[in-house]
Amino acid sequence: MEASTQEFSPVRASVPDASSRDIALARDDFPIFASARPHGHRLVYLDSAASAQKPQAVLDSLANTYENAYANVHRGMHHLSNLATAAYEDSRKTLCGFLNARHIDEIIFTGGSTDSLNLVASSFAEPMLQEGDEIALTVFEHHSNIVPWHFLRERKGVQLRWIECNKDGSFDINSLEKALTPRVKLLAVTHMSNATGVILPIKDIIKRAHERGIITVVDGSQAAVHMPVDVRDIDCDFYAVTGHKLYAPSGIGALYAKREHLQAMRPYRGGGEMIREVARDNITYADSPHRFEAGTPPIAQAIAFGSALEYIQSWNWRQIQAHEAALRQHAIEQLGKINGVNLVGVTDAGGSIVSFTVDNGHAHDIATIIDQYGVAVRAGHHCAQPLMEHFGVSATARASFAIYNTHEDVETLASALKRAIKLLD
Ligand code: ALA
Repeated sequence: MEASTQEFSPVRASVPDASSRDIALARDDFPIFASARPHGHRLVYLDSAASAQKPQAVLDSLANTYENAYANVHRGMHHLSNLATAAYEDSRKTLCGFLNARHIDEIIFTGGSTDSLNLVASSFAEPMLQEGDEIALTVFEHHSNIVPWHFLRERKGVQLRWIECNKDGSFDINSLEKALTPRVKLLAVTHMSNATGVILPIKDIIKRAHERGIITVVDGSQAAVHMPVDVRDIDCDFYAVTGHKLYAPSGIGALYAKREHLQAMRPYRGGGEMIREVARDNITYADSPHRFEAGTPPIAQAIAFGSALEYIQSWNWRQIQAHEAALRQHAIEQLGKINGVNLVGVTDAGGSIVSFTVDNGHAHDIATIIDQYGVAVRAGHHCAQPLMEHFGVSATARASFAIYNTHEDVETLASALKRAIKLLD
């Protein structure tokens, strides 16, 4: 038998060197823009807050895994299993660096942010909370950072205490101060609203919570896409991210949790690879992160998650943030000039999302009509009904911007909107 001494490492795809590229060309890295022709038009994809498109590097990574290195992870002694396991763990390392976590075992792969937040609620909060304790949460929360806490209200008799926002939709620090009573044991807070794009002063919020001994659970689903996140600097206890918004495949996400909490947390789900030993009468559990990763994980997706993060990091945050801020500003100006369009929750602290209503049409009708011109936006309550209630609306249309959008996209949105308004008159 001829044995190769060189270890074949075929999994991670190469990412383009973006150091000397203009970010306005990022669109070229995403094959869908060359192939999709919605209703015969150039694709204007303004729904990245719901789910982002995937760059070639991520598609290559998925294909490479299945073509060259696919096997189950942490189970086999054989060549392919070793390759897949190394690539899977390498992604965890990339994510650890991306979030600036202190230890690799503080990164747990999950199915997405919803899964991450449910994990915290079930494994950490449920055993810790007693009847009469309170959980504080903001009106900006996505339902995935509300419903798991309602479960605890139902199961444990804890109370939910709401942190309101200002009338214009900006974060209200006074409401936070009022809400953090001695009964509050946990604060669930988003880093960036998925419905209006408002960015919360997360470091200050966490500091105020910690001064009162309150555990902090941050939903970073939107924020991690648009700004550098440093979990050590913001000092949160938990931080949830999801891959599919970070240009990675769907079905993969992660939870960052401080090591001190993980050691005391019971497993979320039971199954293979999360145990140390299973006997007829008792079980002992593996350490983190494996304790929380029962069953076969989404292997190729996790590996491609690493490639997506490498792709993001091939740009630099200054480039990304300046590009997306310019797109948002352009959209605010263009949409602000259209009679009958009302911007919702647009504040100084906003990022990459512009939400709006139209006087003479429901958001669903607007989204359906502008789709005919190739423009994709989300319409509805955005799984953020408490925030919709604050604004007194049942739905908005939402344009969300990502690395691949262009000023031309914003102009197409504005002209499609004008046509829609005329049509509805
Ligand atoms: N959470 C996603 C959104 O905001 C689905 O659209």
